[in-house]
Amino acid sequence: MRDPITIALTGAGGQIGYAALFRIASGAMLGEDRPVRLRLLEIPQGMRAAEGAALELADCAFPTLAGVELTDDPATAFDGANVALLIGSRPRTAGMERGDLLSANGAIFGPQGRAIGECAADDVRVAVVGNPANTNALIAQQHAPDVPAERFTALTRLDHNRAVGILAAQAGAPVAEIDGVTIWGNHSATQYPDLSHATVGGRPALETVDVEWARGPYVERVARRGAEIIEVRGGSSVGSAANAAIEHVRDWLLGTARPGDPGRRTSAAIVSRGEYGVPEGLISSFPVRSEAGEWRVVEGLSVDEFSRERIDASVAELIAERDAVRELGLIR
Ligand code: NAD
Ligand code: LMR
Repeated sequence: MRDPITIALTGAGGQIGYAALFRIASGAMLGEDRPVRLRLLEIPQGMRAAEGAALELADCAFPTLAGVELTDDPATAFDGANVALLIGSRPRTAGMERGDLLSANGAIFGPQGRAIGECAADDVRVAVVGNPANTNALIAQQHAPDVPAERFTALTRLDHNRAVGILAAQAGAPVAEIDGVTIWGNHSATQYPDLSHATVGGRPALETVDVEWARGPYVERVARRGAEIIEVRGGSSVGSAANAAIEHVRDWLLGTARPGDPGRRTSAAIVSRGEYGVPEGLISSFPVRSEAGEWRVVEGLSVDEFSRERIDASVAELIAERDAVRELGLIR
């Protein structure tokens, strides 16, 4: 067994937290030779549920679980954390305007970002799941000026997996044969699932499925899948979201390459360095690979007029969210 890694997880008493904890503790995220020390952050209202999850974790007797600590204090939760999964956030409730939601989440992600900056390990890596994920990640990042900006990311892996699954079903192909799908922009209904460079069993996806479908109903279906799940399930996605968070962190820390597929890529919302015309500093989804613990944008992909418009529309929404939180005084 290697040395334990410290993982802070917020919203541990909530649904995604519950679905993620057992897999993380079992070694499904970072490997069965890597013990994990869990720090669970909750607000007082969520503490009993988190305590219950901790009791159940003990009852699993996972050899990879090196300890579980519960707290409602961000500084304690992030102390020495190597990975921070920021899941807990303030959901939108009836009568809440968008500004109210951004403001309520600013009050969560600002202090958590600051605590990460002050207390986390030097190699901390942060993945934000709580919505609005990209902008929450931006708020946290701006409150941790001493942490390299690229350590703050937001989850678009769920969108990526949805895009792969829906394409595979349409093409009548196994998901293992799908490659090169990209989610661009925001984790919201403006996101752009792009099949321009995707392949199905090695053949261009746009020669396998109808282009009209790929650029119309497909885009809508993937972008609105979160709403579809809410409608069908009566609540937002949980198992698939926890799975996506685990895959995001695993690929980030352990690399995207696989035996026989060294160039494997995925999608993640990471800090833009101006790639593909996305303004520097925005946390936007890109085609990415990870190597040696660093996400890198896959550069040099051609972007046609249709894709350009869709990317720009989602990036415009990210700019509007950034400007709104700036106006609220939540970031510089
Ligand atoms: P949930 O309401 O079941 O759980 C959220 C938990 O967070 C609650 O237990 C709550 O007490 C806790 N919490 C609230 N504020 C906190 C704080 N300041 N510190 C620590 N914990 C805090 O919700 P859920 O179903 O687990 O979803 C969590 C978030 O993930 C929501 O914002 C949801 O919209 C989002 N989500 C994102 C994706 C994605 O792909 N990015 C997918 C699904 C859901
Ligand atoms: C999802 O994508 O399932 C979540 O972000 C929930 C939502 O509001 O769409």
